[in-house]
Amino acid sequence: ETHTVTCSAPVNIAVIKYWGKRDEELVLPVNSSLSVTLNQDQLRTVTTVSVSRKFQKDRIWVNNREESMENPRLKRLLAEVRRLTKEQGSMSGNGTRPPSHDCHMHICSENNFPTAAGLASSAAGYACLAYTLCQLYHLQVDVSLLARQGSGSACRSVYGGFVKWEMGEREDGSDSIAVQVAPESHWLELEVLILVVSSEKKAVSSTRGMQTTVKTSPLMKYRCETVVPQRMETMERAIVERDFPSFARLTMQDSNQFHAVCLDSYPPILYLNDTSKRVMQLVTAYNKLHQEERVAYTFDAGPNAVLYCLRETMSELISLVTHYFPPTPGNERNYIRGISSEDCRTDSDFTKKLKLTFDPTPGLLQYIIRTSVGDGPRLLTQP
Ligand code: DP6
Repeated sequence: ETHTVTCSAPVNIAVIKYWGKRDEELVLPVNSSLSVTLNQDQLRTVTTVSVSRKFQKDRIWVNNREESMENPRLKRLLAEVRRLTKEQGSMSGNGTRPPSHDCHMHICSENNFPTAAGLASSAAGYACLAYTLCQLYHLQVDVSLLARQGSGSACRSVYGGFVKWEMGEREDGSDSIAVQVAPESHWLELEVLILVVSSEKKAVSSTRGMQTTVKTSPLMKYRCETVVPQRMETMERAIVERDFPSFARLTMQDSNQFHAVCLDSYPPILYLNDTSKRVMQLVTAYNKLHQEERVAYTFDAGPNAVLYCLRETMSELISLVTHYFPPTPGNERNYIRGISSEDCRTDSDFTKKLKLTFDPTPGLLQYIIRTSVGDGPRLLTQP
């Protein structure tokens, strides 16, 4: 008998960044973090897991290529699922028996967006795997606890909307879990524009980069002990009150400080490139013009920008971005994803009308994606 379940999970983008572990094995962080879950129409992972007595060994395919099962995080996640399955016996939610813990699994995982593009693919990937395994084995556990052990940021992708990851204090990690701050319906006006600067694999992985920072950055101690605890509270309040200017300012400040502790590491870690910095300057000039925060940028461990704004600002933002970062000739058709043509009336007089002064050196972007806040993992088939 073969049991098969297919699920999907979203990407999340942190507005208060997770950076640094206090336990590498259990993936326990040195600070709490908070993120926005993105709409699965544009960015998601779909994972199918099959279990059968006929399978000779565990196997995994990611984006149609078979990968090694020797990945320690993956192995630990599967071992944990089998341990829990054995422990919970054949309990079940809907009368059907879960598969046995001693059968092998075939895992097939696919993104609807390029992997390793610095687009949080590991977050969606591990959240999806953890969620799918919980469905398949009828596990009565906190899914975020399992997802976390695959990749820290993945624990926040197990809920939609606005999600915090409480760092917790226990040594076994049982209180290091994700909690939803507000569902996606809470702030439907909040929208997202992703500027893909480069889809190359990053030079320093998050896992390695944060080790260097924890070991060597004197600024990091101040960030974890003093800055982040305050920002978590202020950010949560800004979201609950739908206070966009506060949300935006904190988001940019925390992205800046994350990249500052990277630079403060030794050897230094640099994720931003010239295009990223031009995006920061453009957003800063735009906000200054309006004398309030209307757009926020944030950057993870790579040069790609994620911009947040309210729906009423989006068409102006798209015009601004496509004006200063025009597509390279030949790339026009591929350039804009999820954006209707009426949003994208590129008006040559537009920036003059806006009276925005910004150095017009053309920047280079590969493409941009318009999206919004989205829901959590979905069960796509019945077990
Ligand atoms: C900059 O979750 O990828 O995106 O736990 O080692 O797998 P591991 O790291 P990962 O780190 C993400 C770092 C970040 C900030 C964030 O998402 O909070």
